[in-house]
Amino acid sequence: MNLLPEEASINAPIYDELFKILFIIGLILFLGMSLIVVYSLFKFRKINGQTGDGIALEGNLKLEIIWTIIPSIVVLIVGLYSYNIYDRMGGMQELNNHEMMMHNNNNTEKIWAGISQNSKNQSGFENLNVEVSAMQFAFLFNYPNGEFISGELHVPVNEKISMKMESKDVIHAFWVPEFRIKQDIIPGQPTVLNFTPTKVGKYPIICAELCGPYHGGMRASIIVEEKSEYENWFNQNKKTKV
Ligand code: CUA
Repeated sequence: MNLLPEEASINAPIYDELFKILFIIGLILFLGMSLIVVYSLFKFRKINGQTGDGIALEGNLKLEIIWTIIPSIVVLIVGLYSYNIYDRMGGMQELNNHEMMMHNNNNTEKIWAGISQNSKNQSGFENLNVEVSAMQFAFLFNYPNGEFISGELHVPVNEKISMKMESKDVIHAFWVPEFRIKQDIIPGQPTVLNFTPTKVGKYPIICAELCGPYHGGMRASIIVEEKSEYENWFNQNKKTKV
């Protein structure tokens, strides 16, 4: 139905599966209730000469059992299915022993929250690591391997990207609608976000946590490009060792 933006990461189709199920359930409820309302408008019209509201209804055990059980089952199924989707997106994976040895320090840092996936991608290569700093009102991307900082996030297509995110001031959130990923960035508590882009293109990065007067302007871009183009960009920017 094209209600959602382009699917540009491996998480997007998984997420959209859940969206479609929720949309269908919502549509069935909406149509069902609307039909009952319209039916009742005609069926229970005031009859000519009627003066009161008729006999008062007092409880209907059968009806009450039905309207308790059916929504309970629906909510339970949606809950379990959401858990399954979150798990498939990597949300339930262990974060503490996450292989993110940034800045070559060996002390294990506690990662508080995030979406993680297996630490190696299919081709067996290490992830591309990027450190994200969020501040009022910008995102900065540090490429530790090239020792440079960029205002735009460049990543190669079909490679797994591991990001460690830290905030310099207040809570921000890293959101890329086309990737169907969103993760809070919290001061003093690093979070991780792993994703694999699947489509070349330029997508918006939007701060999704009210962080101050210019929250609405806190945006950046993620540029997904072919590996060779990404490498050109990386080599142009990396600090040459003296
Ligand atoms: Cu940063 Cu809103």
